[in-house]
Amino acid sequence: MAPLSQTGFRLIPAALSVGAQAALLTEVLARVAQAPFYRPVTPGGKPMSVEMTNLGPLGWVTDAGGYRYQPTHPQTGEPWPDIPQALLDLWAEAAGAGAPPDACLVNLYREGARMGLHQDKDEADFAHPVLSVSLGDTAVFRLGGVSRRDPTASVRLASGDVCVLAGPARLAHHGIDRVLVGSSRLVPGGGRINLTLRRAGPGPG
Ligand code: SIN
Ligand code: FE2
Repeated sequence: MAPLSQTGFRLIPAALSVGAQAALLTEVLARVAQAPFYRPVTPGGKPMSVEMTNLGPLGWVTDAGGYRYQPTHPQTGEPWPDIPQALLDLWAEAAGAGAPPDACLVNLYREGARMGLHQDKDEADFAHPVLSVSLGDTAVFRLGGVSRRDPTASVRLASGDVCVLAGPARLAHHGIDRVLVGSSRLVPGGGRINLTLRRAGPGPG
């Protein structure tokens, strides 16, 4: 297997200082007050262990109707709150000068939550990278290849770490095996919050 750094996967450890993590979390939680976390259901009808909400013009949702992006919260019917400027700046720095993100999925992992191996492929154009920010408890992230049968590697994502899936890794399989409960005290009530920035719709122009 090629070294992860040669596949388009980039891990930026401690991209956010402890102060920047706290400031970002405050901004995110203020928006979560408007767009509460809810427990999505897979198209097959299974409740996910991760709770979700979104920020930005488009939000990723799943229910009996399938996986898709939509402009409103499925429970409140309201538009998603805006993406904090700090995240837009992070994208510009770490993901490049291309189209800005129009979707930020907010995943909440409380004790026992995990996410099965999957590809991010509900976006219009895979030329745009995916950038994800970890806050709170450390996660055991699993990264594979474009084929589900490709070998996988385990990578720990700690609070303040940023990772980018770009180029050949844009469609790499990935998931969260588990979260190390109590490894951080950042998230009120415990657990981990992951912010995944994507360009879901077609690029501007
Ligand atoms: C995801 O793939 O949507 C989430 C990954 C993570 O929680 O780090
Ligand atoms: Fe994903």
